[in-house]
Amino acid sequence: MTANAVITGWGMYAPSRIMTNDDLARLVDTSDEWIVSRTGIRERRIASDDETTMTLSVHAARDALAVAGVDPAEIDLVIVATCSPDYPLPATSVTVATALGATRAAGFDLQAACSGFLFGLATGSSFIRSGMYRRVLVIGVEILSRFLDWTDRNTCVLFGDGAGAVLLEASNEPGGLLGFDLYSDGTGYEGIIVPAGGSACPASPQTAAEGKHFIRMAGREVYKYATRQLAESASAALRDAGLSVDQIDQFVFHQANLRIIESVQRQLAIPAEKTYINIEKYGNTSAASVPMALVEAVAAGRVKPGDRILMVAFGAGYTAGAAVLQWTADPARAFLAPGSQTRLGQPRAAEPLLATAG
Ligand code: ACO
Repeated sequence: MTANAVITGWGMYAPSRIMTNDDLARLVDTSDEWIVSRTGIRERRIASDDETTMTLSVHAARDALAVAGVDPAEIDLVIVATCSPDYPLPATSVTVATALGATRAAGFDLQAACSGFLFGLATGSSFIRSGMYRRVLVIGVEILSRFLDWTDRNTCVLFGDGAGAVLLEASNEPGGLLGFDLYSDGTGYEGIIVPAGGSACPASPQTAAEGKHFIRMAGREVYKYATRQLAESASAALRDAGLSVDQIDQFVFHQANLRIIESVQRQLAIPAEKTYINIEKYGNTSAASVPMALVEAVAAGRVKPGDRILMVAFGAGYTAGAAVLQWTADPARAFLAPGSQTRLGQPRAAEPLLATAG
């Protein structure tokens, strides 16, 4: 009998340093009014100098394991979805597994930009449904602040740092992934790109001087593509699940831009009260955005056992991913977890701002 892959643990971590729009207005020619009206973002989290993509992942994963009550040594596979890994090599997932004490787990990184968590969810579910593994940790994590040009107002106002994690476990009960859609289109590869540091344009003093190791984005083109593709991917996942919009209890969007989310809500007639939004607090945390929003939606009492959740994301590549998932876990389990963010869905107490922002 094919096992279902259900979420038994969930966790998140947002660095404590807050950077507000007003802080950004001291770095580049922008304003709180412009950023809020164009994106919905009010502030974002910035990792401190001693934090890495690995440490953020470990915070979120420890909470997920505590919620599930699973020992790290029982994990079969760690998938880290990120486009801001600690190093080009080795994979961040390997150091994450070791730091967690997941001694017998395999690990690999998955790069699908902002859609990475949904690609990871589909991949992890497949490993479980095939019978190959029973416990898979899927982490979406980014420290995009290290890949931003803090003099480029087109990009630096949009992104933030964070991590979200879920533990998938094999179950004979109904639930887990009911339908999904994964999408990739390389014709738009230059729409969001870090031009240098890969084989196409190796890092050199010249690429560094030209800032080619930072994210560049053609915002308007990305906006148009994202609004169309998010609606298409969400619809495709619903078709795959054999469900309609009104049969979904909670919608969890990639938090890239509030106006993009509102456009998709209009296109698909999704009620606003069924959509969890936290972009105002975190900005676009790329692969971390969907799992962080999911964890907060659960903490906010938006999700109960049996509920159907539609998650959808769009990112560089271009890529898009959507999943319809039936939630099975008792949300109150999060209160057993030691991590205050997962338990309360609240960021930890704020610390002083970035030195550069003062
Ligand atoms: N502050 C003030 N003005 C700004 C800023 C800023 N931070 N950034 C741009 N502007 C200016 C522009 O220069 C432009 O001025 P101009 O008309 O004189 O040239 C003006 O504001 C309007 O620019 P637009 O690009 O038309 O603004 P728009 O309404 O499209 O909003 C935004 C820009 C927010 C970037 C939007 O296009 C967007 O959200 N794009 C999609 C981003 C996205 O979804 N990314 C997801 C994937 S990310 C990943 O995968 C890692």
